[in-house]
Amino acid sequence: MRKRYLFAVAAGIGCLAAPLMAQPPGGRGRAGGFPQYTRQLAPQAVLDKGKGLYEDKCSACHAVDLRGSLEKNGPNLLRSTETFSDKQGELVAASLAKHTPPVTLPQPDTFAVSEYIHSVQAKMSGQGSPPGRNPVGLTYNVLVGSAKDGAATFTKLCSSCHSVTGDLKGIGAKYADDPKALQGAWVFGRTSGGGFGRGGSLAGQPATVTLANGTKVEGKLVRKDDFLIVLTLADGTRKSFTRTYTNDAIGTPTVEVKDPQAAHKKMLLVLDDPKNQNMYDITAYLATIK
Ligand code: HEC
Ligand code: HEC
Repeated sequence: MRKRYLFAVAAGIGCLAAPLMAQPPGGRGRAGGFPQYTRQLAPQAVLDKGKGLYEDKCSACHAVDLRGSLEKNGPNLLRSTETFSDKQGELVAASLAKHTPPVTLPQPDTFAVSEYIHSVQAKMSGQGSPPGRNPVGLTYNVLVGSAKDGAATFTKLCSSCHSVTGDLKGIGAKYADDPKALQGAWVFGRTSGGGFGRGGSLAGQPATVTLANGTKVEGKLVRKDDFLIVLTLADGTRKSFTRTYTNDAIGTPTVEVKDPQAAHKKMLLVLDDPKNQNMYDITAYLATIK
């Protein structure tokens, strides 16, 4: 089955994009857009193989419906930046190598599993849920939560880092016309849209490169991919590091990038509930902060 999905989501990418902006299959859209909707899928035989492999080797921790398991700490793969940005299994392979203990699969198997994950993402309806959970064709309204419940959740989960009379003062007024953007601002942990979109860029963030001999080099990330890491050092000079890459495994040097969204990503796992009620409640509450 080769299918081309020509609708797109409004903005954003990654584990948090789906609940914000997904439009149902067949919904209004434009050409181009995010890979989960525009990529060509592998032949059905590969998807079937991937499904079998997934159920056998991944579902214990990431759940049969790919939505993750709090108990096993396996993240939701439908919302994961790695699986969204993955092209042919290369990012999934890199994630698998980071598992404890590492999960090693032959490259064709990683490809099949990742294609299976992509095929589920392609069919996924709104909010990062499994296919078929949400009715198709509804207008997506984010201001449906309880501001009162949201206030309680805010106190519990957000007040250690934020205050509605301090750094988040007036946030509701700022987004009075655009509750979706308000939701995006707090879910992504960033009010200026840039940077976090395509490719989930961490450019500009503090990063530590560890060389094969254990030497560590600190700087700010310029770019990284499977083959190259580029940092700006404290003195302003740029330094590039070539990475070893054999078959399907990234070798050295390794790089650790500080992710300013880390707190928010973790929080969303805690907040996750099938109907995203917590998320809507918090948005409803923030909308009242004028
Ligand atoms: C024993 C439990 C376990 C198994 C089995 C497992 N995973 Fe994971 N996986 C995890 C955990 C825990 C994490 C989070 C690791 C971390 O953040 O350091 C993770 C992270 C990931 C990620 C990165 C997600 C993200 O957004 O960061 C991907 C992709 C992934 N796993 C895919 C797979 C696939 C595909 C399989 C099967 C081939 C698999 N995993 C098998 C536990 C598991
Ligand atoms: C552990 C600390 C921490 C917690 C807990 C936390 N945040 Fe954040 N938040 C941050 C950081 C750090 C940033 C800035 C991220 C960046 O620079 O990209 C941020 C950014 C934001 C922004 C964007 C602010 C701006 O001016 O760009 C909003 C809105 C926000 N958080 C709301 C929330 C809400 C709502 C909660 C609770 C559900 C929450 N945060 C929980 C640390 C936290």
